[in-house]
Amino acid sequence: MYVGHFALGLLITSVAPSVPASAAIIGSTWLDLINGLSTMAGINTVAPNLSAGPFLFFDLVFIDWDHSLAMALVLSVVWAFFYSGRGAKAAAVAFVASFAHWLCDLPFHNLDLAAYPYSAAHYGWGWWGRFLTYAWLLEGAFSAVCVAAAYVLFARRGVDISRPAVVCAILFLNLSPWTSPMYYIAQAGHPADYLLHGAGVTLGFAIPGYIIVNMVNNAEDRAVRKDSAPKSPRALKRE
Ligand SMILES: *[C@@H]1O[C@H](CO)[C@@H](O)[C@H](O)[C@H]1NC(C)=O
Ligand SMILES: [Zn+2]
Repeated sequence: MYVGHFALGLLITSVAPSVPASAAIIGSTWLDLINGLSTMAGINTVAPNLSAGPFLFFDLVFIDWDHSLAMALVLSVVWAFFYSGRGAKAAAVAFVASFAHWLCDLPFHNLDLAAYPYSAAHYGWGWWGRFLTYAWLLEGAFSAVCVAAAYVLFARRGVDISRPAVVCAILFLNLSPWTSPMYYIAQAGHPADYLLHGAGVTLGFAIPGYIIVNMVNNAEDRAVRKDSAPKSPRALKRE
């Protein structure tokens, strides 16, 4: 899953206005930020497969150190620890957002999510392999619902998140079956394929994540400046 992680991150952010926006928005992508680095370092094994679709075009052969169930829990505790200084609620939101990443990946991944590193047991309902382009559309529908709900919840506090919503729409179209850079990266040859795959995953989450967090913070600040709007707890905390 790609854009869906940002969409759920926005939704979680919308229901936790006192928590820094990065806790859930970057938190939702935390496992994949690590995943791209692990892939570049050669800790993960990914294999080009042009029929794997719908936008990844790789088989995720070994991703146990960031996408096994046990490591998802461990890394989510680490992410929560980063926010523990902001209080128990911030840490809890960070944990939920990070672990929700694994739950969102579960239906789409093709049986490549181990129980723990090197375990024989693997999870993943295989929607990517079974539904291909429809899996991409399904993720788009999920994302649209999450962003729409977040939009309404933010709007109740006078915060307009239409800019991050547009970014999500662009991300959805950018990683389509027809426009995904991974299609070309899968054909780049060894070792460029896995190095570019890893860089693509990490940067593909880091750059939009940074932009979306800033857009949400700016939207909160604009809402605070409007006298008629209720004060935003997140923006007040950042002052
Ligand atoms: C490539 O992906 C397809 C679709 O998921 C799968 O059926 C096939 O086994 C994969 N090929 C290899 C070599 O793993
Ligand atoms: Zn993932």
